[in-house]
Amino acid sequence: MRREKTTMPLAIVVRALRIWSGLFLLAFVTSHLTNLSLGLVSIEAMDRARPYLSGVWTGQVIGTVLLASLVCHFLLGLWAIYVRPTLRTNTQDIVQLMTGVLVMPLLATHAIGISMAANAGLEFGYVGTIRLFWLGAPTIGLLQVIMLSVVWVHGCAGLFTWLRSKESASRLLHWLYLLAVIIPVVALLGYAEAGREMLAAGHNGAVIAQSPAIPENVVVPFAQIKQITNIVIIGSLILAALTFAARLVRLTLQTTQDVFLVRDGGPQMTSSSALSILDGFELNDELHANLCTGRGRCGTCAVRIIKSEFPLPSPSELELRTLYRIGAPSGARLACQVKPDGGRVEVLAVYPADYTFEDARPLDEPSASEAPA
Ligand code: FES
Repeated sequence: MRREKTTMPLAIVVRALRIWSGLFLLAFVTSHLTNLSLGLVSIEAMDRARPYLSGVWTGQVIGTVLLASLVCHFLLGLWAIYVRPTLRTNTQDIVQLMTGVLVMPLLATHAIGISMAANAGLEFGYVGTIRLFWLGAPTIGLLQVIMLSVVWVHGCAGLFTWLRSKESASRLLHWLYLLAVIIPVVALLGYAEAGREMLAAGHNGAVIAQSPAIPENVVVPFAQIKQITNIVIIGSLILAALTFAARLVRLTLQTTQDVFLVRDGGPQMTSSSALSILDGFELNDELHANLCTGRGRCGTCAVRIIKSEFPLPSPSELELRTLYRIGAPSGARLACQVKPDGGRVEVLAVYPADYTFEDARPLDEPSASEAPA
């Protein structure tokens, strides 16, 4: 398929922003988890590694980029929810969607508190932090653990969806799945061991005496931190609720036509002009390859259009790029990107429903199940 050179459309910029802000946030969480895992050695080891791991995020520039990434990722996530034609999707997608709504309120507590305290001149060492989380305010400690877990699950779900759509990354996936489990488990063990060390030391008073107090010349605006954090948490939850409400209103008000889909000469499926061809298959519980779950990145949902009662909408730049990249045959479209205006549409699937890049084969080569005996 030929692709004309055009300017980069908004959809591609938005997609890139969402991916890169997400990767930045995932790097933030990974460095914190790695730092926590050193608790298996000692709290002192955690503190020695802190400037190179969690400490790097408290600088003014990187802290600002972090907050900007958080806001950007959250708002783009809400936008993605608003424009989604359907919430019928696989479990991983639902987990990513729901945890995405919680990332902002959960991460805000940590990010705002740490950056405002750092701006005021207070350095949070692990001795003070672990003491606070295990002896002073265990509820806050528990919240931090929940926060890191939710953000980690969201980040990994997003990362895997992104990497699964990339042929070059498919061989790395097994290792990354393993790391996705090992990193948080070791971090939790490190956190627990640091807590055990703190409790033992706390009981004999040693650590309490050693813990650095807030220097006299440092004024930490705790009340202001609490106020701003509460505003961000409540505001982001209200924004998320409004997004779902606005989506509901949009879907209720839109007028739709019936669409009748036939794939590979099979039975006719009834869908709607509000849905993409891929959504139509899912609505009818018909499996169809979709490694990036409808984001237009992987190309595995490609179909050859055999017949369409009405002309189909022209492909977007995003769709053209993906079709071009996978070397799609002429007349192919991405099932996740095409929304027929109505009538009967007959297509042929380009890839088998269970296709993965690990069993990659040229587009026209039949799968094992299709090959003649
Ligand atoms: S599902 Fe990946 S491009 Fe359509």
